[in-house]
Amino acid sequence: MTETLNADVVIIGAGATGLTAATDLVKAGHSVVVLEARDRVGGRLWTNDIEGQMFEIGGQWVSPDQTALLATLEELGLPTYSRYREGESVYVGRDGVAKRFTGDIFPASPTTESEIERLIVVLDELVAQVDPDAPWAHPQAHELDHVSFRTWLEQQSDDEEARDNIALFIADAMLTKPAHAFSTLQALLMAASAGSFSNLVDADFILDKRVVGGLQGVPLALAASLGDRVKLEQPVHTLEWSDDGVVATTDTLRVEAKRALVAVPPNLYGRIDYVPPLPRRRHQLHQHLSLGLVIKVHATYETPFWRDKGLSGTAFSPYQLVHEAYDNSNHGETRGTLVGFVSDEKADRVFALDADERKRLILESLAAYYGDEALSPAVYYESDWASEEWTQGAYAASYDLGGLSRYGQDQNSPVGPIRFGSSDLAGLGFQHVDGAIRVGHRIGAEIAESLAATAVASA
Ligand code: FDA
Repeated sequence: MTETLNADVVIIGAGATGLTAATDLVKAGHSVVVLEARDRVGGRLWTNDIEGQMFEIGGQWVSPDQTALLATLEELGLPTYSRYREGESVYVGRDGVAKRFTGDIFPASPTTESEIERLIVVLDELVAQVDPDAPWAHPQAHELDHVSFRTWLEQQSDDEEARDNIALFIADAMLTKPAHAFSTLQALLMAASAGSFSNLVDADFILDKRVVGGLQGVPLALAASLGDRVKLEQPVHTLEWSDDGVVATTDTLRVEAKRALVAVPPNLYGRIDYVPPLPRRRHQLHQHLSLGLVIKVHATYETPFWRDKGLSGTAFSPYQLVHEAYDNSNHGETRGTLVGFVSDEKADRVFALDADERKRLILESLAAYYGDEALSPAVYYESDWASEEWTQGAYAASYDLGGLSRYGQDQNSPVGPIRFGSSDLAGLGFQHVDGAIRVGHRIGAEIAESLAATAVASA
């Protein structure tokens, strides 16, 4: 039996984007129904209990430039705390030797260190010319979008270790795709969306704070206020649309509305049947966006043993399986937790192994940074978003080579009564919760405006 609901707006997806837009539209006096495929809200934000230990399975960090997210945290009364960062960081170079350091520049040879510093300046200058809301408008957008970030780095420097380190900040650490798989323009957008390339290099900036109880607190609080407007376990399979409005259909619900927001990651747009089909260019655009791949590894120990050695827990190496790791101990806990990341082709390699072998290799990589104590966690967990039907990758989507300059300018255009939006299509806060909230506010306002215009026209 299918129940029919009527609303001004139907929102598909109860992640940070969809729930922000829904909240704004309700505040503006509109009726809203949010249809969510999963049995929980939050999408890529998920706080879970694994063997008695709280882990943030998806997004967790907040940085000072993320003013939209910070404003939401303030409004919802969600307190934050700083990531532990006392002591020295660790870098493992090509020689496999762990070296301690302070500051942002990895302790390579003096020539490599100064080459890294030079490349950061070059990138900062380029990034300053890029508008994160319109990277395609850069005068050299086409040229920058036609050369992979790896090739561009090879054109800039003969120092392989310097190149590997610069690539790490965008490829392994952000887009979670190999540096040959995305363009220089896409890399510049990633940095511009965080204010500068230097901000990405500065772990104390980019991974500054966490939310007490977990960042999923944001969607949970928004959904609680929306009440029964949010419907769980309602994957939308059909979206009929015309000038008169939309009809979204799930297995048990049919929602008739004037406007729709598809607030799901772009790789999932094609899971919905659009009747009639979307226009040609939209079909093409969607096929040029894909999610990266990363395993977020959580390892909890009875104590944060690395702190006793004078280590902050911050660790990097383009040559290690775990390319970056941090102290991720939860607020108020005496146990210590490390979080590490295994990206793109390295993730492919370990996903081809059985779970025990993968765990052994990952823990050995943590031990290369922190010593053998890292080999024996009390609780171990791998966040595997690529296996999640309603996400299928992490952290977010980016364009293939040439896609951003070719299609980017159309990504925010509505198709009749349908708008598409998520953190994957953000400018500032691109790929982050801050971007999801910005996109949610923007689309909420656009829909409210278009509903008002329709009301005036029909009055
Ligand atoms: P999101 O994917 O969250 O929401 C979309 C929703 O749509 C989902 O709930 C999904 O189930 C639903 N859906 C899909 N198809 C549907 C259908 N057909 N019908 C109904 N519902 C459907 N960010 C950050 O700021 N700091 C960080 O530290 C991190 N770290 C991080 C780590 C990991 C492992 C991940 C996976 C991600 C991050 N991120 C992050 C990124 C951040 O989590 C992400 O950008 C936002 O949460 C995305 O929010 P959206 O609402 O845009 O999409």
